[in-house]
Amino acid sequence: MNFLTEKTIYRQRLTSLKKERLARALGLKGGTHPVIVDVTAGLGRDSFILASLGFEVTLLERSSVMYQSIVEGMQHARKEEALAAIVDRMHVIHVDAIIWLPQLSDDEKPDKIYLDPMFPERKKSALPKKDMQLLQDMVGEDVDADTLLQVALRVAKDRVVVKRPRLANSLVSDRTPSFALTGSSSRFDVYITKE
Ligand SMILES: C[S@@+](CC[C@H](N)C(=O)[O-])C[C@H]1O[C@@H](n2cnc3c(N)ncnc32)[C@H](O)[C@@H]1O
Repeated sequence: MNFLTEKTIYRQRLTSLKKERLARALGLKGGTHPVIVDVTAGLGRDSFILASLGFEVTLLERSSVMYQSIVEGMQHARKEEALAAIVDRMHVIHVDAIIWLPQLSDDEKPDKIYLDPMFPERKKSALPKKDMQLLQDMVGEDVDADTLLQVALRVAKDRVVVKRPRLANSLVSDRTPSFALTGSSSRFDVYITKE
Protein backbone atom coordinates (compact mmCIF):
# COMPACT_ATOMS: atom_id res chain seq x y z
CA MET A 1 0.00 0.00 0.00
CA ASN A 2 1.32 3.41 -0.92
CA PHE A 3 0.13 6.05 1.54
CA LEU A 4 1.97 8.70 -0.44
CA THR A 5 -0.36 8.81 -3.44
CA GLU A 6 -1.82 12.20 -4.30
CA LYS A 7 -5.32 10.99 -3.50
CA THR A 8 -4.45 9.73 -0.01
CA ILE A 9 -2.42 12.85 0.82
CA TYR A 10 -5.25 15.06 -0.47
CA ARG A 11 -7.86 13.29 1.65
CA GLN A 12 -5.53 13.34 4.65
CA ARG A 13 -4.83 17.09 4.34
CA LEU A 14 -8.44 18.10 3.86
CA THR A 15 -9.98 15.86 6.43
CA SER A 16 -11.33 16.95 9.81
CA LEU A 17 -13.34 15.34 12.57
CA LYS A 18 -16.47 17.09 11.36
CA LYS A 19 -16.01 16.41 7.65
CA GLU A 20 -14.93 12.77 7.84
CA ARG A 21 -18.09 10.65 7.74
CA LEU A 22 -16.24 7.64 9.21
CA ALA A 23 -15.13 9.75 12.20
CA ARG A 24 -18.71 10.89 12.75
CA ALA A 25 -20.00 7.31 12.46
CA LEU A 26 -17.44 6.20 15.05
CA GLY A 27 -18.44 9.11 17.31
CA LEU A 28 -14.85 10.38 17.56
CA LYS A 29 -14.27 13.55 19.54
CA GLY A 30 -11.14 15.69 19.79
CA GLY A 31 -9.11 15.27 22.98
CA THR A 32 -10.41 11.75 23.62
CA HIS A 33 -8.43 8.50 23.37
CA PRO A 34 -10.83 5.68 22.52
CA VAL A 35 -9.51 2.21 21.81
CA ILE A 36 -10.27 1.69 18.09
CA VAL A 37 -9.84 -1.58 16.20
CA ASP A 38 -10.16 -1.73 12.42
CA VAL A 39 -10.86 -5.45 11.99
CA THR A 40 -10.63 -5.40 8.17
CA ALA A 41 -7.45 -3.42 7.51
CA GLY A 42 -7.24 -4.10 3.73
CA LEU A 43 -5.20 -1.31 2.15
CA GLY A 44 -5.09 0.53 5.48
CA ARG A 45 -6.55 3.71 4.00
CA ASP A 46 -9.43 4.22 6.42
CA SER A 47 -7.15 3.63 9.40
CA PHE A 48 -4.60 6.02 7.94
CA ILE A 49 -7.28 8.74 7.94
CA LEU A 50 -8.23 7.96 11.56
CA ALA A 51 -4.55 8.10 12.52
CA SER A 52 -4.24 11.42 10.62
CA LEU A 53 -6.97 12.76 12.88
CA GLY A 54 -4.79 11.91 15.87
CA PHE A 55 -6.25 8.56 16.97
CA GLU A 56 -4.36 5.35 17.77
CA VAL A 57 -5.74 2.47 15.71
CA THR A 58 -5.12 -1.27 15.86
CA LEU A 59 -5.49 -2.84 12.41
CA LEU A 60 -6.24 -6.54 11.94
CA GLU A 61 -5.58 -8.23 8.60
CA ARG A 62 -5.79 -11.96 7.92
CA SER A 63 -4.40 -12.02 4.38
CA SER A 64 -0.61 -12.40 4.38
CA VAL A 65 -0.32 -10.45 1.12
CA MET A 66 -2.37 -7.53 2.39
CA TYR A 67 -0.63 -7.54 5.78
CA GLN A 68 2.77 -7.39 4.09
CA SER A 69 1.58 -4.61 1.80
CA ILE A 70 0.44 -2.43 4.74
CA VAL A 71 3.67 -3.03 6.66
CA GLU A 72 5.72 -2.02 3.61
CA GLY A 73 3.50 1.03 2.99
CA MET A 74 4.01 2.14 6.58
CA GLN A 75 7.79 1.67 6.36
CA HIS A 76 7.82 3.79 3.20
CA ALA A 77 5.59 6.51 4.73
CA ARG A 78 7.78 6.66 7.86
CA LYS A 79 10.56 8.16 5.71
CA GLU A 80 8.42 11.29 5.22
CA GLU A 81 8.67 13.47 8.31
CA ALA A 82 5.06 14.65 8.05
CA LEU A 83 3.72 11.09 7.86
CA ALA A 84 5.95 9.32 10.39
CA ALA A 85 3.89 10.44 13.38
CA ILE A 86 0.71 9.30 11.65
CA VAL A 87 1.85 5.77 10.84
CA ASP A 88 3.30 5.46 14.35
CA ARG A 89 -0.31 5.57 15.56
CA MET A 90 -1.17 2.53 13.40
CA HIS A 91 -0.55 -0.89 14.98
CA VAL A 92 -0.99 -3.76 12.54
CA ILE A 93 -1.55 -7.38 13.55
CA HIS A 94 -1.60 -10.32 11.13
CA VAL A 95 -4.56 -12.27 12.47
CA ASP A 96 -8.16 -13.31 11.81
CA ALA A 97 -10.39 -10.98 13.81
CA ILE A 98 -12.96 -13.74 14.38
CA ILE A 99 -10.31 -15.56 16.43
CA TRP A 100 -8.61 -12.48 17.97
CA LEU A 101 -11.61 -10.53 19.30
CA PRO A 102 -13.22 -13.20 21.54
CA GLN A 103 -9.98 -13.86 23.45
CA LEU A 104 -9.68 -10.27 24.74
CA SER A 105 -10.13 -9.71 28.48
CA ASP A 106 -12.69 -7.12 29.62
CA ASP A 107 -9.88 -4.56 30.09
CA GLU A 108 -8.62 -5.11 26.56
CA LYS A 109 -11.97 -4.82 24.79
CA PRO A 110 -12.06 -1.93 22.29
CA ASP A 111 -14.50 0.96 22.53
CA LYS A 112 -15.01 1.11 18.78
CA ILE A 113 -14.79 -1.56 16.12
CA TYR A 114 -14.78 -0.78 12.41
CA LEU A 115 -15.66 -3.35 9.72
CA ASP A 116 -15.30 -2.85 6.00
CA PRO A 117 -15.72 -6.33 4.53
CA MET A 118 -15.16 -6.90 0.85
CA PHE A 119 -18.31 -5.99 -1.03
CA PRO A 120 -20.05 -8.78 -2.89
CA GLU A 121 -19.32 -8.90 -6.62
CA ARG A 122 -20.66 -5.88 -8.44
CA LYS A 123 -22.28 -5.57 -11.85
CA LYS A 124 -19.96 -4.67 -14.71
CA SER A 125 -21.23 -1.10 -14.81
CA ALA A 126 -20.22 -0.52 -11.22
CA LEU A 127 -16.83 -2.17 -10.98
CA PRO A 128 -14.83 -1.15 -7.91
CA LYS A 129 -11.97 1.26 -8.44
CA LYS A 130 -8.69 -0.19 -9.72
CA ASP A 131 -6.98 -0.78 -6.36
CA MET A 132 -10.15 -2.18 -4.82
CA GLN A 133 -10.42 -4.52 -7.81
CA LEU A 134 -6.86 -5.65 -7.13
CA LEU A 135 -7.70 -6.24 -3.49
CA GLN A 136 -10.79 -8.21 -4.45
CA ASP A 137 -8.70 -10.38 -6.78
CA MET A 138 -6.24 -11.10 -3.99
CA VAL A 139 -8.50 -11.77 -0.99
CA GLY A 140 -11.85 -12.55 -2.66
CA GLU A 141 -15.19 -11.92 -1.05
CA ASP A 142 -15.44 -11.88 2.76
CA VAL A 143 -18.12 -14.57 3.02
CA ASP A 144 -17.94 -14.68 6.83
CA ALA A 145 -18.65 -10.96 7.33
CA ASP A 146 -21.92 -11.71 9.20
CA THR A 147 -20.01 -13.84 11.72
CA LEU A 148 -17.43 -11.07 12.13
CA LEU A 149 -20.19 -8.54 12.90
CA GLN A 150 -21.78 -10.89 15.43
CA VAL A 151 -18.44 -11.33 17.21
CA ALA A 152 -17.73 -7.57 17.10
CA LEU A 153 -21.13 -6.75 18.61
CA ARG A 154 -20.30 -8.91 21.63
CA VAL A 155 -16.96 -7.20 22.20
CA ALA A 156 -17.27 -3.46 21.40
CA LYS A 157 -17.85 -1.34 24.50
CA ASP A 158 -19.27 1.66 22.66
CA ARG A 159 -20.16 0.84 19.04
CA VAL A 160 -19.55 -1.11 15.86
CA VAL A 161 -19.51 0.64 12.48
CA VAL A 162 -19.96 -1.34 9.25
CA LYS A 163 -19.27 0.09 5.80
CA ARG A 164 -21.74 -1.12 3.18
CA PRO A 165 -22.56 -0.27 -0.44
CA ARG A 166 -25.16 2.53 -0.33
CA LEU A 167 -28.14 0.38 -1.25
CA ALA A 168 -27.03 -3.02 0.11
CA ASN A 169 -28.76 -4.87 2.94
CA SER A 170 -27.20 -4.63 6.37
CA LEU A 171 -25.06 -7.57 7.46
CA VAL A 172 -27.01 -10.29 9.24
CA SER A 173 -27.05 -10.26 13.06
CA ASP A 174 -29.65 -10.29 15.82
CA ARG A 175 -29.56 -6.47 15.78
CA THR A 176 -30.58 -3.75 13.38
CA PRO A 177 -28.34 -0.68 13.05
CA SER A 178 -29.04 2.12 15.56
CA PHE A 179 -28.65 4.56 12.67
CA ALA A 180 -26.84 4.92 9.33
CA LEU A 181 -24.80 7.67 7.68
CA THR A 182 -25.27 7.49 3.92
CA GLY A 183 -22.94 9.00 1.31
CA SER A 184 -22.95 8.98 -2.48
CA SER A 185 -21.76 5.39 -2.91
CA SER A 186 -21.43 3.90 0.56
CA ARG A 187 -23.21 3.80 3.89
CA PHE A 188 -22.01 3.40 7.47
CA ASP A 189 -24.31 1.23 9.61
CA VAL A 190 -23.78 2.19 13.26
CA TYR A 191 -24.60 -0.25 16.07
CA ILE A 192 -24.47 1.34 19.50
CA THR A 193 -23.48 -1.37 21.99
CA LYS A 194 -23.05 0.82 25.10
CA GLU A 195 -25.91 0.28 27.57
C1 LIG B 1 -12.55 -4.14 1.66
S1 LIG B 1 -11.03 -4.50 2.42
C2 LIG B 1 -10.89 -3.18 3.61
C3 LIG B 1 -10.39 -1.88 3.03
C4 LIG B 1 -9.96 -0.90 4.08
N1 LIG B 1 -11.09 -0.37 4.82
C5 LIG B 1 -9.14 0.25 3.50
O1 LIG B 1 -9.44 1.41 3.82
O2 LIG B 1 -8.21 -0.03 2.77
C6 LIG B 1 -11.36 -5.88 3.47
C7 LIG B 1 -10.13 -6.52 4.09
O3 LIG B 1 -10.51 -7.15 5.31
C8 LIG B 1 -9.79 -8.35 5.46
N2 LIG B 1 -10.60 -9.21 6.36
C9 LIG B 1 -11.85 -9.68 6.14
N3 LIG B 1 -12.30 -10.40 7.17
C10 LIG B 1 -11.28 -10.40 8.09
C11 LIG B 1 -11.13 -10.99 9.37
N4 LIG B 1 -12.10 -11.77 9.91
N5 LIG B 1 -9.99 -10.76 10.05
C12 LIG B 1 -9.00 -10.00 9.51
N6 LIG B 1 -9.07 -9.45 8.27
C13 LIG B 1 -10.21 -9.63 7.57
C14 LIG B 1 -9.66 -8.88 4.04
O4 LIG B 1 -8.57 -9.79 3.94
C15 LIG B 1 -9.45 -7.59 3.24
O5 LIG B 1 -8.08 -7.29 3.12
